[in-house]
Amino acid sequence: MKNRRNFLKALGALSALPLLSFVPERKKTPVRFKKGLVISTWNFGLKANAAAAQKFLDGGKAVDMVEAAGREMESDLTELSIGLGGLPDREGHTTLDACIMNHEGKAGSVCFLEQIMHPVSVARAIMEKTPHVILVGEGAQQFAVANGFPKDNYTNPAAEKAWQEWLIKSEYKPIINIENHDTIGILGQDADGNLSGACTTSGLAFKMRGRVGDSPIIGSGLYVDNKVGAATATGLGETILRSCSSFLIVELMRQGLHPQAACEEAIKRLVEINASILKVEDYQACFLACNLEGEVGAYSVHPGFTYAIWKDGKPEVLPSKSLLNG
Ligand code: GLY
Repeated sequence: MKNRRNFLKALGALSALPLLSFVPERKKTPVRFKKGLVISTWNFGLKANAAAAQKFLDGGKAVDMVEAAGREMESDLTELSIGLGGLPDREGHTTLDACIMNHEGKAGSVCFLEQIMHPVSVARAIMEKTPHVILVGEGAQQFAVANGFPKDNYTNPAAEKAWQEWLIKSEYKPIINIENHDTIGILGQDADGNLSGACTTSGLAFKMRGRVGDSPIIGSGLYVDNKVGAATATGLGETILRSCSSFLIVELMRQGLHPQAACEEAIKRLVEINASILKVEDYQACFLACNLEGEVGAYSVHPGFTYAIWKDGKPEVLPSKSLLNG
């Protein structure tokens, strides 16, 4: 009893300390950027950003912008890493992962979804119409069909051919290149300065059946905190899942880091966390982030990561800096 009393007394003394002294002070009150911002992973983000920009110009909210960007990519059935045209799993089935998060902290996610054209919109429907965050597999497909998303058994001939070629060796070895890991992650900021984000992907090519990557996992492939900023990821999902990278980036920005510094710190942490599991030469991971002021950061483990930005009406594709130099 005496020990417990002493412990409580010590705790009381601790709680009297100014807690803020442990947290780096933010230099100024951020002024929200309101002229429209969309950032997306990889070169193809340019096309996705154009769809988001149109929503912005039509008066859409950030969540409408990022969903439109995701749908644009999912509609491209020649795309080998997103949507129904994506490369299949080992057994020849294309399985889709997506998520969305809005400025109110609401989130929806769909994993291991088959035969549905727009997983990002299914994720939005989960966010808006159910008390849940994640639906997977057959249940997710049932929910989608019940909510007006038709089943579609499209097969991309190019994806089928790549799978047939892969089957000859059936070697499961994730490779660093943009063909195998080019999930789209999208962050958007609307005319109120509010933030939202989305991710959509067919995941790792020729993955084990049932494998889910980082993209639909809130905090790993995407995180949005409308009081701080937003972050998204692309690359080998397992490395990002182990590091909760998007949440980490947002928390680093909360402590006052610029989005660039936050992405750089998160890549260093990811490499440390994965060091005992994978050689750094054997994977790529890439981050993209923005804060309330519309400042942007991008960083990757290896060179080659690019991102598309649409800011105040100007579209561009930019190269990211990287930890290693190739
Ligand atoms: N980053 C996408 C995946 O690993 O599935």
